[in-house]
Amino acid sequence: MIPDQKIIAANWKMNKTNSEAAEFITKLKAEINNCDGFCKIIIFPSAIALESSARLCEDSKIEIGAQNCHWESSGAFTGEISVDMIKSVGAKYVLVGHSERRTYFSEDDETVNKKIRKILSSNLKPIFCIGENLEYRTNNMAKSVVETQIKRGLSAIENTKIEDIIIAYEPLWAIGTGRTINCDQLDEIGNIIKKTVFEEFGSQVQVIYGGSVNSQNAKSFLSLESIDGALIGGAALDEQSFLNIIKIAKGI
Ligand code: PGA
Repeated sequence: MIPDQKIIAANWKMNKTNSEAAEFITKLKAEINNCDGFCKIIIFPSAIALESSARLCEDSKIEIGAQNCHWESSGAFTGEISVDMIKSVGAKYVLVGHSERRTYFSEDDETVNKKIRKILSSNLKPIFCIGENLEYRTNNMAKSVVETQIKRGLSAIENTKIEDIIIAYEPLWAIGTGRTINCDQLDEIGNIIKKTVFEEFGSQVQVIYGGSVNSQNAKSFLSLESIDGALIGGAALDEQSFLNIIKIAKGI
């Protein structure tokens, strides 16, 4: 069963030292722990801050995820972290296929697929990022890009595992640019993603949106039937701004 609670996730990227992460989480916890019925809150700190962040969140409604992992269990992969390492510190989610990983670290649909299968096999939950670049959007090819990314990224995954995956639709031209998609376009893509997954696997999937989400525009995206939450970069670096988006999600 797909939960109907909205998901509000913070992707901190390569930001925040351990002490900055702890300060943010401590303040956020104080604000949200007294309130009922909040949305699902997930924070993706750096790998270095994963353990301390997860420990700080143990007694809270905040969950922690890693920004990346390797698809092998262990071995000679200098600089990488494994799903067992992620799990051992209490994190529950892993971001996969973020456009910055695809652009700067040459990740492709095949490596993304290997990572998703590894994450699922260890009972962590992948947040699988997809999205088209500006050229594809301008040429009306966004639909075919996301369909291909879904089919390749989820290739050979058992139908029963699909509900454990969250898909983050993040058009590249909207990430960190201040440009956002309009609500009709987003609703259309949200429905296409859900339909593609249903046709391939007979399963429902949650779809969240990312790309310059902030407290001014969050309500319009989060109100869409096809959109189950948001993945937030820049506006999630400040605790008050992230909290404002959480409050908006709660009110929907
Ligand atoms: P942004 O980043 O909110 O700064 O656009 C979103 C993301 O990259 O996940």
